[in-house]
Amino acid sequence: MPAISPALAGEEYRIAEIWHEAWHGAHKSIVDPDLAEARTFGSFQRRLNPLMNDVLVARVKGEIAGFSIVRFNEIFQFFVSSSHWGTGVAQELIKATEQLLAARGVGVASLTCVAGNDRAIAFYIKSGWAIFEEKIERLESELGEFEVPSVKFRKQLL
Ligand SMILES: CC(C)(COP(=O)(O)OP(=O)(O)OC[C@H]1O[C@@H](n2cnc3c(N)ncnc32)[C@H](O)[C@@H]1OP(=O)(O)O)[C@@H](O)C(=O)NCCC(=O)NCCS
Repeated sequence: MPAISPALAGEEYRIAEIWHEAWHGAHKSIVDPDLAEARTFGSFQRRLNPLMNDVLVARVKGEIAGFSIVRFNEIFQFFVSSSHWGTGVAQELIKATEQLLAARGVGVASLTCVAGNDRAIAFYIKSGWAIFEEKIERLESELGEFEVPSVKFRKQLL
């Protein structure tokens, strides 16, 4: 069982490593190659720094195995290191992330996933999330904006 808790100052580098590795593992073959090129390790570090107050981490034997970031009523980011896929870490992390949102008074939570990220989509569905919309999202990057077909999910928390 992973231990879930808020991220600590000094953990930015490891979290950005997981974000970089897991993002490319899931998205490299399904997004515009220019967007994949823009998603460098440094770009994840720069995006993470202002979000650190809203990061939960899952630790296995003391090592960070995954993280989530909440923003308003949504699970904004959700990433588990590929060496921990299929182990139950993601289930415990999403439960704790849902509890955090509920504790903040969020009745209906949302999250967005890139279309074609079939493993993540299967994971969210088995975790009780329902697809409510498929749309083109505009994703910002340091190489400009990209239009990305996306799937939006909702879950009633309260
Ligand atoms: C999404 C993520 C957190 C899920 O965690 P996980 O440990 O891999 O999830 P699980 O193994 O518990 O569940 C995945 C399910 O998808 C299934 N699956 C695997 N590959 C699949 C595929 N190509 N198509 C459909 N289903 C697939 C698995 O069999 C499993 O279902 P099962 O438990 O019924 O067998 C993790 O894969 C991850 O971090 N991915 C990269 C980052 C990412 O995409 N984050 C989400 C951004 S929206």
